[in-house]
Amino acid sequence: MRPDFLNFHVDHMTLLVQPQMYNVAYAIFRLIFGVPKEELLYEKRKEWVKGQGEESMTFAVRIGSGVGNNPNLINTIFAIVQPTEPKDVGSHVRDILDSKRTAAHWQHVALRTSDLMAFHQHALQHGVNFITPILKDESEDLIQVFSGEWFPPGMQPSGLFFEFVQRNPTPDLLRKLEERNRESWFRDKTFLGLYSEKENEYRRGQVKPFLDPELFTAMNEFLGGKKVWEITDEDLKKCQAMMKQHAHCQTRK
Ligand SMILES: [Fe+2]
Repeated sequence: MRPDFLNFHVDHMTLLVQPQMYNVAYAIFRLIFGVPKEELLYEKRKEWVKGQGEESMTFAVRIGSGVGNNPNLINTIFAIVQPTEPKDVGSHVRDILDSKRTAAHWQHVALRTSDLMAFHQHALQHGVNFITPILKDESEDLIQVFSGEWFPPGMQPSGLFFEFVQRNPTPDLLRKLEERNRESWFRDKTFLGLYSEKENEYRRGQVKPFLDPELFTAMNEFLGGKKVWEITDEDLKKCQAMMKQHAHCQTRK
């Protein structure tokens, strides 16, 4: 039986786009996806150089909501991010898009769990790396944590990772919703925390992978000779043992 904390729902997805796409993306969401102004959950600005005016770094749109037996938690939300740093200032968002020679890149999917602490513990015990501790917002109705990126040793970081969140629809949160406090669904304050952490990683040239290279390599050596349909439950048990062993050694270091 799968524990309840491993029953994930997509909470939101974050898309990086080149500046040339940003305003058109906004118009596409408003006009084609039909997002009314009040479903624009936030729009975050920053003035990089004093006197040069603000730039829009990110906005989030709720493109769907309110069906099923738990309408308060069923939302389809996209966050859109563009690089706004001046040309002479580093930007991990620009680096990722330019290195892929692409206009748009899905950066992360945020998955909601019923028990983030339980999932976090489970993931750590399996050797998963996170780039932040569990972050808690001020009013304590959202906690979140961000994983390392998905890439094998020796390859460029993919720019793709997971966020895991837990939202508690407490009476307080529900009241906030009734008051149409849209930001309570998707806070922009934690955005900057993640943004600067990713920026640090890319500036250092040390992007944390989802699994450590040694663990990844060991698993790949063990599984690499097989077709995916040939991987048995017994093989997976051995992989799990490798993960737990690796995680155990890491915590003792
Ligand atoms: Fe996110």
